[in-house]
Amino acid sequence: MHISVLLEETIQGLNLKEDGIYVDCTLGYAGHSSEILKRVRRGCLFAFDQDSDAIKYSQEKLSKIGKNFTIIYSNFVNIKEELARRQITKVDGILFDLGVSSVQLDEASRGFSYHQDAPLDMRMDRNNPLSAYEVVNNYEESKLSDIFWRYGEEKYSRSIAKAIVNYRKSKKIETTLELVDIIKSAMPMKAMRDKHPARRVFQAIRIEVNHELDVLEQAINEAIDLLDVGGRVVVITFHSLEDRIVKNIFKEKTTIDKMVKGLPNIPSQYLSNYRLVNNKAITPTEDEIENNNRARSAKLRIIERIK
Ligand SMILES: C[S@@+](CC[C@H](N)C(=O)[O-])C[C@H]1O[C@@H](n2cnc3c(N)ncnc32)[C@H](O)[C@@H]1O
Repeated sequence: MHISVLLEETIQGLNLKEDGIYVDCTLGYAGHSSEILKRVRRGCLFAFDQDSDAIKYSQEKLSKIGKNFTIIYSNFVNIKEELARRQITKVDGILFDLGVSSVQLDEASRGFSYHQDAPLDMRMDRNNPLSAYEVVNNYEESKLSDIFWRYGEEKYSRSIAKAIVNYRKSKKIETTLELVDIIKSAMPMKAMRDKHPARRVFQAIRIEVNHELDVLEQAINEAIDLLDVGGRVVVITFHSLEDRIVKNIFKEKTTIDKMVKGLPNIPSQYLSNYRLVNNKAITPTEDEIENNNRARSAKLRIIERIK
């Protein structure tokens, strides 16, 4: 089961209007989308996902609430183009609840989990030609180490990449637990004490396989451009790399030019078109974290178009 993270805070953050046009870029199991649809009786909801299992489930779930929704099977990086094809060029709110769902993580066969043995896969979109198997078995040592460092902030990136390449000399790496053992063999005992030793490398491979950070930057910028006055983009991130991208884009969009900052009357063309709804990211309560461990690293940020 997937429990939606920061559900109330997200719905409040979107500041929904009954007749508004909303976009959920990460439909998943429709936890957030259901709450949006219930409140947008005269408007409509467009929802993206790149996982056909999630879409099948959510199509049925949302149909029980209303008819005013359209599900789009596509990467959210295509948001502008996909909406334009449906004659939508301005919207009142857009949500991103990033990463994978608990259903994807718990389904062993998807290969996202370092707790369960499965073929190396990690594709959110099973039509994607690149899988974890390709990355782990075909990438050069330097590229692997770079990915583990950049996308996993893994301190032992080099020794892990070396261990992978050594192992490959005798046989292909087929499964998640085979990879976990190789990772463990390349780390000192002290690094294995607190969190799972494969956590960072698995995160890095998942980001690489799904191009998660590349698409995020483009999609957030396009989402902000799509906002009508009063509209908001709400983003929930789960690790510092994602959060940094969102924080920087929001900062850039809401900061006025240094040249005019001190002026008593700033000409309107220099004023920012956007404002941050909260200066600091919103985080889950202790209660939420206790009920849903996946929420522990969540951060929610909101930007609003003001002119
Ligand atoms: C954390 S889950 C969303 C859960 C959802 N908010 C709910 O309450 O049920 C993220 C979902 O977004 C999808 N996803 C992640 N990145 C995507 C992308 N770039 N394009 C389209 N879908 C994406 C995943 O397949 C997954 O189903």
